[in-house]
Amino acid sequence: MINDNLAGKKIILGVTGGIAAYKSCLIIRSLVNSGAEVRVIMTPSALEFITPLTLSTLSGNPVIVNIFPEDQSNGVDMKTWHIEYAMWADLMIIAPCTTNTIAKLVNGFCDNALTTVVSALRCPLIVAPAADMDMYSNKIARSNFIKLESEVGAYIVEAEKGSLASGLSGIGRMADVNKIIDSAGMILSGYKKDLVGKNILVTAGPTYEDIDPVRFLGNRSSGKMGYSIAKAAYLRGANVTLISGPSSEVEYQEIKKISVRSANDMLKAVKANINDNDVLIMSAAVADFTPEKKAAGKIKKEDNLEIIKVKKTADILASVKKDKIKVVGFALETDNEIKNAEKKLKEKNIDMIVLNSVNEENPAFETDLNIITVIKKSGKSKAYPKASKFTVANFILDEVKESD
Ligand code: CTP
Repeated sequence: MINDNLAGKKIILGVTGGIAAYKSCLIIRSLVNSGAEVRVIMTPSALEFITPLTLSTLSGNPVIVNIFPEDQSNGVDMKTWHIEYAMWADLMIIAPCTTNTIAKLVNGFCDNALTTVVSALRCPLIVAPAADMDMYSNKIARSNFIKLESEVGAYIVEAEKGSLASGLSGIGRMADVNKIIDSAGMILSGYKKDLVGKNILVTAGPTYEDIDPVRFLGNRSSGKMGYSIAKAAYLRGANVTLISGPSSEVEYQEIKKISVRSANDMLKAVKANINDNDVLIMSAAVADFTPEKKAAGKIKKEDNLEIIKVKKTADILASVKKDKIKVVGFALETDNEIKNAEKKLKEKNIDMIVLNSVNEENPAFETDLNIITVIKKSGKSKAYPKASKFTVANFILDEVKESD
């Protein structure tokens, strides 16, 4: 997935002493590959897990560990490097961040190079904590997390569930690297956790309508747009449920995913979940037709093809109850785009429609980029520039939020 918000950005990566420090290599690689310039600061404990040489090679910049010059025998050319670093950065990420460093940050400590720079920072700060499960859920640690958000103003990318270095299994494993990179792009675009308390239901991907045990009717949707909406909504603080047709996209661990196959499965899943949500975003490319009946055995070459008779699927958007929920639909159009999108908005009786014009400039399928126009029930419309599907997801969420 491309991240169009990191190119040319100056990012400090702080690395503290936890086993997840080995993943800082992957963070640097992704940031550098996205066009960012990266400078690394390590705490002394981080050196127990990974070498400055590795991180310096990957970032292409010297790594800072000590506040003071180690060798002062030949005189000292000391600069206020910590202030220069703090003013240089567009963003600082601390990943992994131990609960010890968090305790220091919330108490304003400046006892090593990393905590000193944080105290002088002018840019946003992302913190990806990691610790063993009992340390992570420790009462004092949790109250420090709250202060880290409210007093230090950091954006926390919470740890995930999984196997831990101790052999235990629980919450404490540093957030997936892709999630940290996605949040970096979002924070640099000025987003915060502005959807806390919202319950958002997103559908994504194609549906497969089975013809026989080995064949189906499908479409070219990859699911990228819907997964990006689900991820961006989660990073902005929403509770997200994702109903997905067959797709190779990977959701974040915290997103509740319901996998479905056919349009009818998706209809049932939407109906079962709609009452628990404030917003429904139907980005799935639901099949319009399904075989009248699925052949019990494989249809053979010599069989009469007319055996595949189709019927219309139920229109999910048109049929769901909309009294307590805001509903967003998509319109995929190749001709008379605006007119067709307005017609769908009206006929399906929804609050907002996202028009995807499919043409040479915007292939829409199997690409990371998209161009959309949002049309609202009020008649208001806005055309957005071409951007990554992740950025487009945030445009859509902005529109959902605006019409609150
Ligand atoms: N949709 C739906 N149920 C269907 C088909 C589509 O809920 N059986 C939803 C899609 O998820 C999308 C919107 O309706 O949000 C428009 O889908 P689109 O394929 O553009 O339009 P259709 O209504 O299927 O009409 P057509 O294919 O004729 O353009």
